[in-house]
Amino acid sequence: IAPIERRLAGLRQQTALWRKADETIGVVPTMGALHQGHLSLARAAREKCDRVIVTIFVNPKQFNDPDDLKNYPRTEDEDARKLESIGVDLIYVPEPDQIYPDGFATTVSVAGLTDMLCGESRPGHFDGVATVVSKLFTQTSADYAFFGEKDYQQLQIVRRMARDLDLPVEVVGCPTIREDDGLAMSSRNLLLSDRSRVYATMLAEVMEDMRQKLQGGASMAAILPDAKSRIMTAGFNKIDYLELRDGDDLSLLEHSKPDARLFAAAWLAGVRLIDNMAV
Ligand code: PAJ
Repeated sequence: IAPIERRLAGLRQQTALWRKADETIGVVPTMGALHQGHLSLARAAREKCDRVIVTIFVNPKQFNDPDDLKNYPRTEDEDARKLESIGVDLIYVPEPDQIYPDGFATTVSVAGLTDMLCGESRPGHFDGVATVVSKLFTQTSADYAFFGEKDYQQLQIVRRMARDLDLPVEVVGCPTIREDDGLAMSSRNLLLSDRSRVYATMLAEVMEDMRQKLQGGASMAAILPDAKSRIMTAGFNKIDYLELRDGDDLSLLEHSKPDARLFAAAWLAGVRLIDNMAV
């Protein structure tokens, strides 16, 4: 079983030895409650890097809602077991003061990309993400960092941050892993009741239909009313956004074009689900 390290000093001791042996280091930042989506990132890291660190830290700075933070699933023992089969070298589960020591006063903020989509409905969220990810990059001294396309806006923000700050890390994007019925895997899916879980699949289903229509030349204006009403009829309570955007700079689009992506966030029984797909 991979050793668990809870302190920065111990992490640094280990990575120093790896660096000395000229081994490459890959990091997979997570908040735990690991599922096949996370594990696919760990496997991608295992293939590309000599040493793999998975980090588990439920980052308070990226939660807008104290209840959401409190209810976030925590399953450390199971997580460690799941990582065992992949051959991860180290699991870094920092104690909170290892990330945010007393008097911590610095925020990393990526302008522009953070204003739209999830940034609009979750103010400050991406500052919290950029701040913790920049710390995890420097703490682990990783050469490669693996992120899922499931959180596509996050992936683009992290890429931008690494470029802007000359962080010596290559950010690798990995495809979204889905359940058999198409629902994008997410730790938050655990919070859905059996009944809500059945309706959750409608989000990806409607997006898939939209994708086909957009590829056939339809405009967003033409297909949006029907798509939204289908999602609401399935039992969703609120749609935060359902938009077509450029996959690189995330600018808003009305028609499909190369590298266009469809993005959605919607609430089902108190749980916020997000998804995106290339069109
Ligand atoms: P978390 O939600 O735990 O996700 C960790 C990583 O797993 C992210 O890169 C996310 O995109 C990826 N992931 C989640 N579900 C996936 C799926 N179905 N398929 C593929 N990849 C998936 O994202 C975070 O944590 C945090 O914001 C973090 C980056 C750790 C910073 O705190």
